[in-house]
Amino acid sequence: MTKNIKINETLEKYISNNSYDLHPVQKEIIEYNNKLGEIKKLQISVTQAYFMQLLIKINNVQQILEIGTFTGYSALSMALAMKGEGFITCLDKNKETSETANIFFKKAKVNNKINLIIGSAIENLNNLINEKKSFDLIFIDADKENYIKYYDLSFELLSNNGLILIDNVLWKGEVINNNKNDRMTNIIKDFNTYIKNDKRIEKTILPIGDGVTICRKL
Ligand SMILES: C[S@@+](CC[C@H](N)C(=O)[O-])C[C@H]1O[C@@H](n2cnc3c(N)ncnc32)[C@H](O)[C@@H]1O
Repeated sequence: MTKNIKINETLEKYISNNSYDLHPVQKEIIEYNNKLGEIKKLQISVTQAYFMQLLIKINNVQQILEIGTFTGYSALSMALAMKGEGFITCLDKNKETSETANIFFKKAKVNNKINLIIGSAIENLNNLINEKKSFDLIFIDADKENYIKYYDLSFELLSNNGLILIDNVLWKGEVINNNKNDRMTNIIKDFNTYIKNDKRIEKTILPIGDGVTICRKL
């Protein structure tokens, strides 16, 4: 029998109220995103960001790559968790949301730790590979159609023992709905099968946010 409980918005709020304090600029981004209407849901959850911060602290992660930054909540959260010389490279194609993210990074005084590159993620991932860059943690949270490509390119950029985290892998639970046969659900299901069959990594799916796969390079 499953021991998991269902987490609704109220319970999620209870968890965050009883776990951690947010940085004032994290709060500001949440407030900003809430005013954007439907697209506010692009931002990762507070609990997910905190989990990623803990991973960064525990593993003393120094080089991070983020694919899909939006208005900057996940990148800012990760930057706040990094110590010393830690640095984040962010990739996003949207100029407007990237400008907003950069304003928040500056406000939180982490702009010297983050480089947000605007343009096609695939193109920029190939550039990073050509530049022989290497990352300890890679967070994939952009267009789902390219998830397999992002994953394969990310693997080339991953340091030994490095981690790849991929967001939205439970797709609001639709991955187990046999009556759902729409394109996006199938893309996520195919991606999950692809990861399952990759013997170069160990992995698990964590039921936080919309589902996060965490992969460790073997
Ligand atoms: C789900 S949002 C990222 C949310 C962010 N991680 C956060 O927590 O706030 C996805 C982002 O991916 C970007 N994106 C979508 N397709 C892209 C592409 N082909 N290349 C680069 N960025 C892309 C979008 O502009 C959007 O900002």
